[in-house]
Amino acid sequence: MANNNSQNLLPTILVIFGATGDLMRRKLAASLFGLHEKGLLPKLFHVVGFSKQALTTEGFREMVRDMIGAKERAQKEKVEQFVTYFFYQQGLFEQLEGYRKVANILGMRDNEWRVCSNKLFYIAASPQFYKTIFVNLDKSRLTEPCSPEEGWTRVLVEKPFGKDLKTAQDLDRLLGKLFQEEQIYRIDHYLGKETVQNILAFRFSNSFLQDSWNKEGIKSIHIELFEKEGIKKRGGFYDGIGALRDVGQNHILQLLALFTMENPGTFDAKAIRKKRAEVLQALKIYRPREIAKMTMRGQYKGYTKEKDVDPKSRTETYFLMKAYLGVPRWEGIPISMGSGKAMAEDRVEVRIRFRHPTPCLCPLRAEKHYRNVLHYRIQPNEGIDIMFWAKKPGPEMILEEKSFSFDYKKAFGEDSFADAYEKLLVSAFQGDQTLFVSTEEIVASWKFIDPILRAWQKNIVPLKRYKSNSAEIIKVPLPIDE
Ligand code: BG6
Repeated sequence: MANNNSQNLLPTILVIFGATGDLMRRKLAASLFGLHEKGLLPKLFHVVGFSKQALTTEGFREMVRDMIGAKERAQKEKVEQFVTYFFYQQGLFEQLEGYRKVANILGMRDNEWRVCSNKLFYIAASPQFYKTIFVNLDKSRLTEPCSPEEGWTRVLVEKPFGKDLKTAQDLDRLLGKLFQEEQIYRIDHYLGKETVQNILAFRFSNSFLQDSWNKEGIKSIHIELFEKEGIKKRGGFYDGIGALRDVGQNHILQLLALFTMENPGTFDAKAIRKKRAEVLQALKIYRPREIAKMTMRGQYKGYTKEKDVDPKSRTETYFLMKAYLGVPRWEGIPISMGSGKAMAEDRVEVRIRFRHPTPCLCPLRAEKHYRNVLHYRIQPNEGIDIMFWAKKPGPEMILEEKSFSFDYKKAFGEDSFADAYEKLLVSAFQGDQTLFVSTEEIVASWKFIDPILRAWQKNIVPLKRYKSNSAEIIKVPLPIDE
């Protein structure tokens, strides 16, 4: 991973398409401020916000103050210094005129700074505009670096990347015409989470798991991404997407890749992306008959009454499925993946169940042996628990389940956790693509997801309704497990 400091970079301009939108409000503004506070932004830095809203630069700065909660912050000076980075250009994504005006602003800044600065284009707009924005970036020649010797141009693209395999490939082809792969940063913010980045360190920097991290040592893998919240006010976005596209095709499959990929040999972006892609390419693609047994979907009661949701919507807010990998290390090992909105609790966790030894001196439960389980807690309560057996003190040989526990925040301090978006932005400034998704990974993940979405559209798998904030739905097994 690159570790050169962003401060040493050439002057950099970040252009945000969709700068008044949800992502900017929820994540980007605060993450940029976090980097500013930590001194991690390039020394000379500007942000140009682009959106259709009629605003002046001063109006935009006021909006940014509001987004970062400036009123509640003690460091007024830091806030005021921060907002001076921001400039605004009103425009429609469909009209070239706005892009030309952005090009003018960038040119003026470069003249003023007497340098060909780095340009980073962040596509934080609604996915329906991606194509239009890419085309207009090209037409306005914003994608061309101003000099062959200095200053790069890069593009950051938010998820969802496409709606299915075809749209993802179309989008990628177009992007590939305008930019080299080294310039394209496809976001999956889960890759920027500390606990997710730690997966490779945990697996490959420790020797004690090496010999058992395979089908001989492991019986099953379970990945869960549960959220207590419903869809909040995101009905307009979510209803056309559903849980599988929203978090399954990306966050959950990335977790699967990190837990099952081969050793990349180095913490290098190319090697890591290649190994992640290889394991995603090995996912067994299901036929409709298998989909009926291996997947299920649900919708929380009350979902159809949410704002901007079709009252007759059959969009899933929950799914569960079992996947298999066609690679020697994992042949025949079930990997269950589940996610839901309006669940009983917030829990993002991966559980690895180990096989028991034979003969086993471990206790029986309902004719089955207990096993060692590794709980890898992504969030909240970030950490790792390993369940094991210990002899209870006393005259008899009674075994009790105990755990080795590692609490991430206790170990390193609450404040040491940087927001995922801060890390993604720094990586993009520094040109490190480790935390970004490659074309191969995008294609492989859609190849697996596409047939399932199609089968669900044909109602091959019934949509089960479940009570919000209860554990009802997670108790329902897959048809294959019944
Ligand atoms: C986003 C999804 O990508 O990830 C949201 O669109 C989901 O629906 C979110 O809530 C979960 O991310 P985090 O970081 O809150 O776990």
